[in-house]
Amino acid sequence: MSRRLKIAGIGLIVLLVVLQFFHPERNSAPVDPEQDMLTVVAPPEHIANLLRDACYDCHSNQTLYPWYQKISPVSWYLNRHIKKGKKDLNYSEYGGMDKADRIGLLVKTCDVLDAGTMPLQSYLLFHQEARLTQEERELLCNWTEEEAFKVMRE
Ligand code: HEC
Repeated sequence: MSRRLKIAGIGLIVLLVVLQFFHPERNSAPVDPEQDMLTVVAPPEHIANLLRDACYDCHSNQTLYPWYQKISPVSWYLNRHIKKGKKDLNYSEYGGMDKADRIGLLVKTCDVLDAGTMPLQSYLLFHQEARLTQEERELLCNWTEEEAFKVMRE
C-alpha cells in the first residue's frame, strides 16, 4: 500500500471515530397511551405489528434503533428521515387530532400503501421486517378505510 493511501485510510478512521461524538437527539419519547394511534384505536394485533414494523420508526415518537443506526453518519441520515416523516404524519399524535385530521391520516396511509411509495426504499435495505407483501398492504389499507368510516360516523 502506498504511503498516501495509508495516510488517507488512517484519516478516514480518525474521522469516523471523531464523528461518534456527534449524534442527533434520539427520537424515543415514552408512549403516551392517550395520544398514540395504536393505543387510542387499538387495532387488531397483526395490524398494529405491521404499522409498528413498517412505519413507526419514521412516523411516531418512538424509533427503535438497531446498533448500526446509532453510528454516525448513519444516525444523521435516519434522523433527517424521521424529522421529515413526522412532519407529514405522526401516529403518536393521533389522540390530539380532530376528526378531519384523523381521517386525513388514515386515508394518506392507505394512499402510500397502494402506491407502494412507503416505506422508503433506502430503509428497506436494512429492514427486512418492514417489507410488506401485496397482501399485507391490502390488509392495512382495508383497516385504515374501515377506521376512517368509523371516525366519520362518530
Ligand atoms: C425511513 C423512514 C420512513 C419510513 C419507515 C416510512 N416513512 Fe413515510 N415518509 C418518510 C419521509 C422522509 C417522508 C417525507 C416525504 C419524502 O421525503 O418522501 C414521508 C412521507 C409520508 C407520507 C406523506 C406523503 C404523501 O404523499 O402524502 C405518508 C402518508 C407516509 N409517509 C406514510 C408512511 C407509511 C404508511 C409507512 C409505513 C408503511 C411509512 N410512511 C414508512 C419517511 C418514512
